[in-house]
Amino acid sequence: MTTTRTIAVIGAGYWGPNLVRNFRASPAWDLVAVCDLDPARARQVVGDRSTVEVETSVEALLRRPDIDAVAIATPARTHASIALAAFEAGKHVLVEKPLADNPETAALMVAAAEAANRVLMIDHTYCYTPAVTYIRDALQSGLLGEILYIDSVRINLGLVQPDVDVFWDLAPHDLSILDFILPNGLDPQLVSASGADPLGAGKSCIGYITMPLASGGIAHVNVNWLSPTKIRQMVIGGSKRTLIWDDLNPQQRVSIHDRGVDLGIQAADLTERTAMTVSYRMGDITVPALSEKEALSAMAEEFAASIDEHRLPRTDGMAGLRVLSVLEAVTASLASSSAVEPRLAVEELVS
Ligand SMILES: NC(=O)c1ccc[n+]([C@@H]2O[C@H](COP(=O)([O-])OP(=O)(O)OC[C@H]3O[C@@H](n4cnc5c(N)ncnc54)[C@H](O)[C@@H]3O)[C@@H](O)[C@H]2O)c1
Repeated sequence: MTTTRTIAVIGAGYWGPNLVRNFRASPAWDLVAVCDLDPARARQVVGDRSTVEVETSVEALLRRPDIDAVAIATPARTHASIALAAFEAGKHVLVEKPLADNPETAALMVAAAEAANRVLMIDHTYCYTPAVTYIRDALQSGLLGEILYIDSVRINLGLVQPDVDVFWDLAPHDLSILDFILPNGLDPQLVSASGADPLGAGKSCIGYITMPLASGGIAHVNVNWLSPTKIRQMVIGGSKRTLIWDDLNPQQRVSIHDRGVDLGIQAADLTERTAMTVSYRMGDITVPALSEKEALSAMAEEFAASIDEHRLPRTDGMAGLRVLSVLEAVTASLASSSAVEPRLAVEELVS
């Protein structure tokens, strides 16, 4: 039998209301409070006649014995201090992405969760979509074969953020998806990034990240705030099949293409060209049926299940830390105009 646990959401700005709505609707959770420095904002989210309480002090909220867990949807620079206080108070913690604003404080959060024997989960929302769950299963089952390349495009007319560049704003999504779907997670030996600021905003508004894959293939992420067309697409080329995920096409979000190139003998020079064997496979395209379940609802269920089953959640603190470690390497690569090894092994950071 599953237990209904109590939760409070901290932060009722742009994203917090989505957490409030999903925890309220989840049979696994009883939402008891919403906390924001601005009480009017919290009140607006819970509604005038709601029994969900409004709090303005995180300290007071964490002292409440009737709260099992908190979900933190405040700005990234505040995540660590709130999460550390929550573990101290014995609460389980869900944190919005990014886990923190730098890998060192994120590592402290991972260590504190372990010491307190509490769950630390990161809301890498895309990892709870039916499409990404399908893609992960497809990769793990070998449906695509060896991964040759991954191209991820996330471009649109975006708000130029005051505190972060386009990499820190948009790439956490692509990186968290790669971490989730790749059989060995996100573990690049090198990260190269190039950015451009053609409008003079003082930060990259267009960005490209390139990372070699352990299989010998390559992953590439393109993020852009200046594109008039919105594109959310990932192409994963495998030795057997290619998968295309177009998140803005509900009729055909994911398609599997049984098409590709097989290289047999390669010519060393022009005289050997006749001996070359290159064949093109032109097989079927299949479109799997996917449910339309809201990702945050599955995420809320997973948070409860990981607590009930005393296990790590599907997107744990280490996943958040791996993403931050690559983002930090992106920033270092931009500064040095060269490929950069992620600075510290993630394991070293938490030890
Ligand atoms: N998962 C996703 O797809 C997704 C999408 C958007 C934003 N986010 C993340 O959600 C988080 C919040 O982003 P946002 O755009 O909603 O920010 P926001 O600025 O709109 O809202 C933040 C809210 O937190 C409150 N707040 C700040 N410090 C507080 C404190 N110490 N105690 C209580 N309340 C406090 C503010 O008053 C504000 O209402 C960020 O980490 C962001 O990256 C995630």
